[in-house]
Amino acid sequence: MNITKTNAWNALLQHRERLQHVHLRQLFAEDTQRFSHFSAQLDGLLIDYSKQRVDRGCMVSLIDLARAADVEAWRDRMFAGEKINVSEDRAVLHTALRHMDATPFPCNEQDVMPQVRAVRRQMRDIVERVRSGLWRGFKGDAIQNVVNIGIGGSDLGPKMATRALSAFAHPHINFYYVSNLDSAHLSPLLEKLDPRTTLFIVASKTFTTQETSINAQTARTWLMAAAMEEWAIAKHFIAVSANTAKAAEFGIPPENVLQMWDWVGGRYSLWSAVGLSVALSIGMNGFERMLQGAQAMDQHFRDSPLEQNLPVLMALISIWNTNFLGAETTAILPYNESIRHLPAFLQQLEMESNGKTVGRDGEALACPANPIVWGEIGVNGQHAFFQLLHQGGWLIPCDFLVAASSDHPLPGHQAPLLSNCLAQSAALAFGKTEQQAREELQQSGMSAEQIARLLPHKVFAGNQPSTTILLPALDPFQLGMLIALYEHKVFVQGVIWGLNSFDQWGVELGKQLASRLLPAIMGQSEADAQLDQSTRGLIDYFRRHGHV
Ligand code: F6P
Repeated sequence: MNITKTNAWNALLQHRERLQHVHLRQLFAEDTQRFSHFSAQLDGLLIDYSKQRVDRGCMVSLIDLARAADVEAWRDRMFAGEKINVSEDRAVLHTALRHMDATPFPCNEQDVMPQVRAVRRQMRDIVERVRSGLWRGFKGDAIQNVVNIGIGGSDLGPKMATRALSAFAHPHINFYYVSNLDSAHLSPLLEKLDPRTTLFIVASKTFTTQETSINAQTARTWLMAAAMEEWAIAKHFIAVSANTAKAAEFGIPPENVLQMWDWVGGRYSLWSAVGLSVALSIGMNGFERMLQGAQAMDQHFRDSPLEQNLPVLMALISIWNTNFLGAETTAILPYNESIRHLPAFLQQLEMESNGKTVGRDGEALACPANPIVWGEIGVNGQHAFFQLLHQGGWLIPCDFLVAASSDHPLPGHQAPLLSNCLAQSAALAFGKTEQQAREELQQSGMSAEQIARLLPHKVFAGNQPSTTILLPALDPFQLGMLIALYEHKVFVQGVIWGLNSFDQWGVELGKQLASRLLPAIMGQSEADAQLDQSTRGLIDYFRRHGHV
């Protein structure tokens, strides 16, 4: 089905004709209830999309678009455990991982919950022993350092969540995340850690990812240099993987291997045992509270009408900005320090899921799909790239995120933080007209000549759309809701664009080429004659200058 040929798409083209020259100033002037008309809440999480360039008519057509794409049916197929990941012939059941009720999921015949609950029990046991000091290292010491070795979904989710929930962290255990192949990531860490008190989690769905394998091997060698005995592996290594055979080959005993399944995508795996480091940090009850938050969003997504459905609204706004207003990028701007890794997490979630030009039917998509996602801590961005957001002339929709209360309060910080967040979205939306700028300069006592010179620089076009997401506090439940909100948003967008959000074939070519180049870089073979001139020239440089 070609979404661009639907009546809803055509209606949206007409809304674009009407709205593309309408300023947010006008939209707010015309509707004094705009905030209440264009905001929604779930269990304290508030989404304000009144500063998006939509009106009621446009929203009605966007909802029609979701219906035309059969979003409700696709949603039901996902929750029913159908194999909607067609190119990998897999179900998509990360929602089972946060199913906290004592009922089957997705259905009686295909109930995955017994396995899910068994792993949760195994996690709880490990978490309680490590946190209480009962888990001992090879010399009998309690664990003080946990190092998660993983990459992509096996790194970004747990790293983001551990940091986000740092206010709930165990006071005496430190957490580290190693992903980069560059030894500069692992080496300085090993220098400062004590093998007797360090626990490694090797998180890899496939257990074949090169970066993770190499880092895990190095960590193993480092441990063995101190412990000297193979049995020490059992005291210092845990694996999380769908490939338990490979984890066993690495030498990790079965009781330390936590299972995941092919129906959990890497970037959706935080809710599985990939979240073990999070659970070790905040405790298993805290981790399950995060699962409950995600489950609350799942239930809302599954049961609410499209018109009031938060992930659906977020998806539609993004489609409006991308496919109708022409935005090519979107910025994620968290104001809480603790969610500083959210932009990186969402980059993978959005761009690995929907960064595609081919539909699930193998045909070229009829319209562009995911925009480029980027972002940074909001206040830091204000003193760096916000200049371009305000006056650079690009259309860059932004998501502003902030919690009403601080998770690490200090007197005098929270109110200025909140005011900066709100000020930026208002400045981007409403800008400053020439008239306003002129009056300001006149009031400051400038001469007419000075005003004429400065005036063009003092005008802000505004009309830059944004959504503001507010949380009452950064706690496990709210974080769970927030992440599930974005997950379902990504899913809805994928359905409307007609693509499969759950495969990632685009990452394969680089992996293949890297293994073809390795022997030449190591000097074990001549550079492949089939290689392009540039790559051969670069290999030649490494051979002359590198120490591999
Ligand atoms: O190469 C991309 C990717 O497969 C991601 O989808 C995944 O999150 C990451 O690599 C890590 O994979 P694994 O958990 O199998 O090591």
